[in-house]
Amino acid sequence: MTLLLDVHLTESDADAALRADALAGLTATPKWLPPKWFYDARGSELFERITELPEYYPTRTERTLLDRSADEIAAVSGADVLVELGSGSSAKTRLLLDAFTSPAHPGGGLRWYVPQDVSESALRQAMGTLADEYPGLRLRGVVGDFTRHLDRLPGGRHTPLPGGTRRMVAFLGGTIGNLLPAERDRFLTGLRAVLEPGEQMLLGTGLVVEPEVLVRAYDDGAGVTAEFNRNVLRVLNRELGADFDVDAFTHVALWDAEREWIEMRLRAERAMTVRLPELDLSVDFARGEQMRTEVSAKFRADRLGALFAGAGFALTRVWTDPDERHALSLATAA
Ligand code: AVJ
Repeated sequence: MTLLLDVHLTESDADAALRADALAGLTATPKWLPPKWFYDARGSELFERITELPEYYPTRTERTLLDRSADEIAAVSGADVLVELGSGSSAKTRLLLDAFTSPAHPGGGLRWYVPQDVSESALRQAMGTLADEYPGLRLRGVVGDFTRHLDRLPGGRHTPLPGGTRRMVAFLGGTIGNLLPAERDRFLTGLRAVLEPGEQMLLGTGLVVEPEVLVRAYDDGAGVTAEFNRNVLRVLNRELGADFDVDAFTHVALWDAEREWIEMRLRAERAMTVRLPELDLSVDFARGEQMRTEVSAKFRADRLGALFAGAGFALTRVWTDPDERHALSLATAA
């Protein structure tokens, strides 16, 4: 079977981006690394395990919420093209696809599903399965980075999809929380810029809940999140020839009440010098030094309107779970 796939990101692009990020983050004070480098094959597997932990409620909560709300979302949206940013295995997508392809969906239903992901292999696998499950649906995959390649999303004025007139761009999982505020604003404004008035975005966001609940979700008893966090060091060791002693770093998860985000860090348990020959770089860590590896921002339901308005979207409707731990927002390009 042939898959329609636009490739905007190659191995060598990713390698260059990793080098640039590692150089910037490891030479900064305090040190940091961007969370996107957690997700090699092992990291993706660890993340899958995280989503099944009793403490990690976000994925489960979003899935239940989506399950309950997908028909309403489809009815309110009426989109005929579903774009999904960071589609991964497209597991939650089926709930949306079922609703949007149901005979009850107004306007003749969905014409296209456009999954976008950084991983070409994950995309190919997901598309192969979906092609069998939704024989009437046309698929067009995009290998790219949602922070860099939004202008290449198919279905716009310059890249029409036959029969597709109106897109809904889904960005689920609370992943927007992993962007720093400036990156988040750039992302939302950038997405708005490639959409036509009336096109939509469906955004999944974690909500602010009790700090104990949040911290437990990012510091589980089985230590899976700790291993996920340390995995970024393994990635640097493999990809950049670095010599991080992975076991010398411990996992830290804390709630920043002012900025309303969970911050994950790696703490050096002893003083050390790490060499990264591929970057021609040596990096000193003091004993106890902490390096930021992820922020996971949580949102307030009553501020979602302002978040979207600032980027040129009008909030159409918000769905939340009964415990108000997660929100799905449908916003329309103004
Ligand atoms: C990728 C956004 C779903 O921030 O909750 C899970 C990643 N980090 N545990 C999140 C993550 C630590 C996760 N998302």
